[in-house]
Amino acid sequence: MSKKILVLPGDGIGPEITAEAVKILNACRDAGLDAELEEGLVGGAGYDAEGHPLPDATLAKAKAADAILLGAVGGPKWDTLEDLSKRPEKGLLGLRKNLNLFGNLRPALLYPQLAEASTLRPEVVSGLDIMIVRELTGGIYFGQPRGVEERDGERVGFNTYVYSESEIERIGRVAFEMAQKRGKRLCSVDKANVLEVTILWREVMNRLAPEYPDVELSHMYVDNAAMQLVRAPKQFDVVVTGNMFGDILSDAAAMLTGSIGMLPSASLNAHQQGMYEPCHGSAPDIAGQGLANPLATILSVAMMLRYSLGEPALAERIERAVGKVLDQGLRTADIAYPGTRQVSTAEMGDAVLAAFAES
Ligand code: IPM
Ligand code: MG
Repeated sequence: MSKKILVLPGDGIGPEITAEAVKILNACRDAGLDAELEEGLVGGAGYDAEGHPLPDATLAKAKAADAILLGAVGGPKWDTLEDLSKRPEKGLLGLRKNLNLFGNLRPALLYPQLAEASTLRPEVVSGLDIMIVRELTGGIYFGQPRGVEERDGERVGFNTYVYSESEIERIGRVAFEMAQKRGKRLCSVDKANVLEVTILWREVMNRLAPEYPDVELSHMYVDNAAMQLVRAPKQFDVVVTGNMFGDILSDAAAMLTGSIGMLPSASLNAHQQGMYEPCHGSAPDIAGQGLANPLATILSVAMMLRYSLGEPALAERIERAVGKVLDQGLRTADIAYPGTRQVSTAEMGDAVLAAFAES
């Protein structure tokens, strides 16, 4: 049966980068992928057109899709919206929550061709291959109560950091299984020296460990993990952590690979339905100028083929095509350095397309 893919370009550089990824998706369809593409509005684009960052029509299409490709959401235009529930980011969070996309996979893989593009010394990052497994539908992002209210004559803001045992267990299992398929080392990141919720997190991870005897489980406090990521990042194989720590650590890990413009992501529910998006944001400062790097979005398509569409061979073909283009010395502005050739967003997309067609 034909698969349904929903494309949600979103805001800022979102439309430019998803346009390049759609070229590759269409090339996959020419190569035998049986899929239909649909488009929808999300984020600021949804708000402007429909008055809501996650219009009902978009949510309905998302629920019916096998996979979603999302560009990015947000921008200064909407940052002043008083009603937080109308902010573009709520479109993204609403999709994650409504589709129960609790398992967020963020691979930080350094293409050897980009060792020079990292701000860290090549010997620190060369060979880097980390998988961050971030819990995506719980934690402080969604905990209740939350708000800003008047208490004793001043305003007080509050959020709740909460995880149930079952939420910890299901993300733990995703991470242990991921470690089994990779280097068999799993580091669980918490703040168990201060926060009760992460004491429970650590307990659950320890309880699961005997079921995965081939995986070596370790624990690290989040502050130390941030330091270790920039000190000696190659010590990590799979990292599992909660929503907010994962948000922060994955940005840091992204920079190890040269540019956050290189990092794809997958957000999966229990039925392999997934949303695929670059880890970076909407970069409003460079939107519409052809400067954005489309590779994170193109690599997100590869993840989609692997995790939701059951097409690992096509996924590898895309990843090889990206490697080939980097070998040719083509670089968008974020990964360019002397001796390489700087190209635009569309030129990069076309080069990947050509390399894909040849392979
Ligand atoms: C991410 C982003 C989002 C998050 C924002 C846009 C809400 O930073 O996907 O990492 O915080 O999860
Ligand atoms: Mg983030």
